[in-house]
Amino acid sequence: TGFITLDTGYKNTGATKSSITFLDGELGVLSYRGYPIEQLAEKASFLEVAYLLIYGELPTADQLSNFSNRITKHTNLHENFKKIFDGFPSNAHPMGVLSSLVSSLTAFYPGAIDPDANAEVLDLTIVRLMAKLPTIAAWSYKNSKGQPLMYPKNNLDYVSNFLYMMFALPNQDYVIDPVVVEALNVLLILHADHEQNCSTSTVRIVGSAHASLYSSVAGGINALWGPLHGGANQAVIEMLEAIKNDGGDVKKYIAKAKDKNDNFRLMGFGHRVYKNFDPRAKIIKKACDSVLAKLGVKDPVLEIAKGLEEAALNDDYFKERKLYPNVDFYSGIIYRALGLRTDLFTVMFALGRLPGWIAQWKEMREDNEPIGRPRQVYIGSNTRDFVPIDKRK
Ligand code: CMC
Repeated sequence: TGFITLDTGYKNTGATKSSITFLDGELGVLSYRGYPIEQLAEKASFLEVAYLLIYGELPTADQLSNFSNRITKHTNLHENFKKIFDGFPSNAHPMGVLSSLVSSLTAFYPGAIDPDANAEVLDLTIVRLMAKLPTIAAWSYKNSKGQPLMYPKNNLDYVSNFLYMMFALPNQDYVIDPVVVEALNVLLILHADHEQNCSTSTVRIVGSAHASLYSSVAGGINALWGPLHGGANQAVIEMLEAIKNDGGDVKKYIAKAKDKNDNFRLMGFGHRVYKNFDPRAKIIKKACDSVLAKLGVKDPVLEIAKGLEEAALNDDYFKERKLYPNVDFYSGIIYRALGLRTDLFTVMFALGRLPGWIAQWKEMREDNEPIGRPRQVYIGSNTRDFVPIDKRK
């Protein structure tokens, strides 16, 4: 079997070659297909960035309208989905609902299961995923509120349609706020890809067994849900609220985070790759101030966040370990200001990360990568004889 290198958590192991996303953790650089994240966040729409990630180049106006029209055509869900929604308890976490329903897309579109399906089938699967994920997310929210499901409105753009399905009610006017659309657009772009992170590696490894794109993305959604990964955005707000309700003493929580006998970690702090700053966090912090100002929202939790950040950045423990605020530290404050419930924050991350998962899965299959199958260093018992049950101690 030869020599096996042990690298738990794959801290230094490259699992693939990729031409999608570049990041430099020391310099705080992030680019998609060569375009700096700062420029994309400022100038592009989320669908443009999705096209860029999936197909490799920024779309022409025709390519973008074609992509967008195809997605719009597929935003509806099969009526039987309503029965599945009905079966979930109203307090089901939307991430569990999301991954289950993405898995169940294989039942409705079994053509995607065939690993030898032609390019047209794969493209339809990509379009269906992009089109249906917002509808699934919005319907799971409506279901949890006991409100009627809102069908997609096809004259709206991607982000506006999502907001409409989430917040509109039948027979009531719903005005879409351009400030909210713009903020969501930026957040989705910032989350759209991040090379071989935990959920993306999951998507690639599930797909490496030639499992369908739907199944692979469902796996990615489950990985993203974890609080060390995308679930951190929900955990950050819960932490900030707990600090506020406990009198707002940030120093006490800094001490807790440093205490090795305490499991508490400063959520939204630290990153496996960024050891200087997270470029996404910089953009989000600025966006956070401007969105709250534009919406006229005063959130006491923002003050706690700023105090906590300042205290941590001046603390030797955090300095020595190069722990800085990551993308999730301020994103939750914006989501709250936009009116999203805390348990939906990670769903928003999933909507943003979807094009990245798709692009990475597609690249892996196009490059004919072998099945992902890490080795191990066995440290268990030597060979021993079977003991009958009545002789066991
Ligand atoms: N609070 C307190 N101590 C921390 C934190 C934190 N948030 N993060 C890392 N450390 C300490 C850790 O205890 C360790 O200390 P020591 O060297 O004394 O044992 C050292 O810093 C290195 O940490 P690590 O856990 O070995 O680093 P990692 O690369 O395995 O973990 C991480 C990276 C992001 C999982 C971790 O920093 C963390 O748990 N952060 C909080 C959760 C979070 O915000 N996750 C979102 C990540 S960004 C978006 C995403 O990926 O979804």
